[in-house]
Amino acid sequence: METSVFNRAEYWDKVFSTKNLQDQSWFEAEPSSLEIFEKFKIPPDASIIDVGCGDSLLIDVLLASGYAHITALDVSAKALEKAQLRLGHKAVAIHWIAADVTTFEPPEKYDVWHDRAAFHFLTNQHDIQLYISVLRKSIKPGSLVILSTFAQEAPDKCSGLAVNKYDEDILVKMLGAGFEKLECNTFFHQTPFNKRQAFLVCCFRPPEK
Ligand SMILES: C[S@@+](CC[C@H](N)C(=O)[O-])C[C@H]1O[C@@H](n2cnc3c(N)ncnc32)[C@H](O)[C@@H]1O
Repeated sequence: METSVFNRAEYWDKVFSTKNLQDQSWFEAEPSSLEIFEKFKIPPDASIIDVGCGDSLLIDVLLASGYAHITALDVSAKALEKAQLRLGHKAVAIHWIAADVTTFEPPEKYDVWHDRAAFHFLTNQHDIQLYISVLRKSIKPGSLVILSTFAQEAPDKCSGLAVNKYDEDILVKMLGAGFEKLECNTFFHQTPFNKRQAFLVCCFRPPEK
């Protein structure tokens, strides 16, 4: 029997080639994560990586808020291209990386690791552990890790793909030793199609070493 290997980049390129921003169930006109940056008083010179950024507006609002060291990473080159087109000349201020986070080799260390709705697409232990080891080697001591995933009561799939759903205990256990949980909240996202999706939004400090 023939088995086909799932090609993540190809899959997501197709999604972003066919869906405009407002057609994406995860679309936010006002990115909710900005509030976290404000709450934790992230300074404008912080180096920030948005993992699985898609073509979300978070990059635009971070730039508008004065953040100057932003890296946008996504497995879909198409998503990055769309964000770049939208940003026009402002796109040169961003460090764009088309890569699968599970094999990402960080060229620098970050003060903020932000991931909204990318981590939960990793559904096997191997990929999850790869993600966590990339995360550990990408962040500075004292940095802020923001992970926003589907919560237990969210749908089983997103964009046609199965997702892992989390509660606080599972997420804390999964990250492993040394990560200090700063807060975990449930956030109800209203999709453009008027559906409510429960997200678990957690902030962590990494281990000192
Ligand atoms: C549901 S979208 C969320 C996009 C964006 N974070 C937002 O909040 O609008 C998931 C994003 O994760 C990206 N993604 C999925 N798996 C990934 C992986 N292994 N490495 C990097 N990006 C990934 C997809 O291409 C897509 O842009």
